[in-house]
Amino acid sequence: MSDQAPGSRPGPRRRWGLVLLGAAGGAAFALYVAAAPFVAPALRRVCLPFVPASTVQVIAAAKQGFRAVGYELNPWLVWYSRYRAWREGVHHNTRFYISDLWKVSFSEYSNVVIFGVPQMMQSLEEKLQSELKGNARVVACRFPFPSWIAVHESGKGIDTAWLYDAKSFKTTAK
Ligand SMILES: C[S@@+](CC[C@H](N)C(=O)[O-])C[C@H]1O[C@@H](n2cnc3c(N)ncnc32)[C@H](O)[C@@H]1O
Repeated sequence: MSDQAPGSRPGPRRRWGLVLLGAAGGAAFALYVAAAPFVAPALRRVCLPFVPASTVQVIAAAKQGFRAVGYELNPWLVWYSRYRAWREGVHHNTRFYISDLWKVSFSEYSNVVIFGVPQMMQSLEEKLQSELKGNARVVACRFPFPSWIAVHESGKGIDTAWLYDAKSFKTTAK
């Protein structure tokens, strides 16, 4: 049923209906734009959802003078990382890219820090083993690599981190 006569402008009820429909559609679209980058990584072949690091595990390599490069699929997190680096005054030695880590070569890096999920650690172990040079070191946060033997372990529970030395994982490679 309509409160609009043929050929006339929409009546107040219909106008409010259109406004509400537009507002609901806009809100749903905004929610999709905000949430999709967080959900999409969990739907990939190698599922890697967003689970935030605890404040204890925010690694401050850039503050120690290291040139730090971050790769992340989620554009919100990349912009947030750039903002945090600027706020902490380390934006000169940091770069953050919206990139798929499986398409990045890690061969030029001598230190790699990863906070992944168990489903991806085996594949990542193989990738890093083939790409990193013999003097590289790798830190895994919260979830260890399945085959490598850590040279050092620190922290407890969800804040555990493991340090791996390429000297040992390159020589034990199958
Ligand atoms: C366990 S969370 C870690 C989040 C954040 N780095 C931290 O430490 O709080 C894993 C992150 O990996 C990202 N991710 C998933 N697949 C990826 C891929 N192929 N390349 C780059 N980043 C990916 C997700 O968007 C998610 O933010």
